[in-house]
Amino acid sequence: ELESLDTIVSLAKARGFIFQSSEIYGGLGAVYDYGPLGAELKRNIRELWWKEMTQRHDNIVGLDAAIFMHPKVWKASGHVDGFNDPMIDDKQSNKRYRADMLVEGHIAKLRGKGKEEEADELQKLLDTAGSREGLCKDLHNIIMDNEIRAPESGAFDWTEVRQFNLMFKTQFGATSSADDDDAVYLRPETAQGIFVNFKNVMDTARQKIPFGIAQVGKAFRNEVVARQFVFRMREFEQMEMQYFVEPGTDGESYENWLSKRLKWHKTLGIREHKLRTHPHPKDKLAHYAASAADIEYQYPIGWQEVEGIHNRTDFDLSQHQEYSGKKLQYYDQKKQKRYTPYVIETSIGLDRAVMMALCDAYREEEVDGDTRTVLKLNPEIAPTKVGIFPLIKKDKLQDLAHKIESDLRADYKVLYDESGSIGKRYRRQDEAGTPFCITVDFDGVESEGEDTVTIRYRDDMTQDRVPVSRLREVIDDKMKS
Ligand code: GAP
Repeated sequence: ELESLDTIVSLAKARGFIFQSSEIYGGLGAVYDYGPLGAELKRNIRELWWKEMTQRHDNIVGLDAAIFMHPKVWKASGHVDGFNDPMIDDKQSNKRYRADMLVEGHIAKLRGKGKEEEADELQKLLDTAGSREGLCKDLHNIIMDNEIRAPESGAFDWTEVRQFNLMFKTQFGATSSADDDDAVYLRPETAQGIFVNFKNVMDTARQKIPFGIAQVGKAFRNEVVARQFVFRMREFEQMEMQYFVEPGTDGESYENWLSKRLKWHKTLGIREHKLRTHPHPKDKLAHYAASAADIEYQYPIGWQEVEGIHNRTDFDLSQHQEYSGKKLQYYDQKKQKRYTPYVIETSIGLDRAVMMALCDAYREEEVDGDTRTVLKLNPEIAPTKVGIFPLIKKDKLQDLAHKIESDLRADYKVLYDESGSIGKRYRRQDEAGTPFCITVDFDGVESEGEDTVTIRYRDDMTQDRVPVSRLREVIDDKMKS
């Protein structure tokens, strides 16, 4: 069982899953690069999601919208005015903190000291702080009343709490001015690309409500408290699906998507007891949502959100209709009724899903007095499917191993490896999460009749001897089970 996130961070770096961005220059905060194994793992999860949405549902279509969007999009969506975090500065160190997180840190400290009652009381205060307007003042009062000190300097010398917008602003072309009205932003969510294309898709995709639009892409947020590895990044990837429904059917659709999405996480191979849903209380909802729930995973940093399911009502389409002056409505021929659809959104962070898959798969097992580290990833998302090893470097064995390699390569990501002891090669593939390893030995090529090889299964380390002609069938079969 995984105890600390550091274990995953080290494994991810050592095995080539995830590196810090620009590492040779000292790194860039909260930005990460995916290495050879990570790129495969991420791509496999992305493909499973895409397939689940656009292939398994005949009423969900795909979209790939640009990251840059018209400046008015973010005014209409509410992000220019409302996409803020409450921040406070320590005047001594000039360090900035998220005010609510400071309070949470203080609560954790109280619990650590066994002061449960005091912690509960403070938690209650934090939970009820702020309707949006009052939030800064409430948080400031809590910090002052409880004499919460800056974690690093230990000082108690705070500024006021202010709202800090999370969007990255950039310049666009030669004509851009410093004027905020035409600032171009890096999108903080992919969803808006779907809303502004609602009419285009309606006009071309021949879909009737209810129908959905799915999209995968990068999103950017200038997170101030950015730590915990790929859990909270400044550049990350979202997989979002907006499901357009008739008002009045939104409640049922919301429940339906929440349970469908939870099931999907289980098909990804995530252990059931590590997953739960967490509905948001009404007073904590984002500016666009009527109801919302998170799907949470029990990471080594605690229960945290991987995916959000939101009932966004007709908020976005109505806003864009107002700001663009274009009708964004639906005409129901059968009912002869025109309306602005409601939207049920499912939004999962791909990086958080990768981190969940790694954490969930990680095991340390005692084997013959030794510890083996193994990633028990679902074969479907494993970066490499098959390792192929000649037992020793002899032509006869290498030739057959290369032949098997080229036969399987068309359909599976395979890896040929002839260096080091066979035990070492198995362990390397265990750490990479490779579900099957094939070893070519003399017994298999020198005995009478057909050539045979051994196939070794990652999870229980058992081996079968299989005729080469049946290898493909055995692997196909195991991939599905
Ligand atoms: N369109 C709705 C939306 O963006 P959100 O709850 O802000 O909702 C959705 O984000 C998902 O995106 C989250 O559940 C999380 O998995 C992922 N996400 C959000 N911010 C992130 C960050 N800074 N780093 C990594 N993933 C993030």
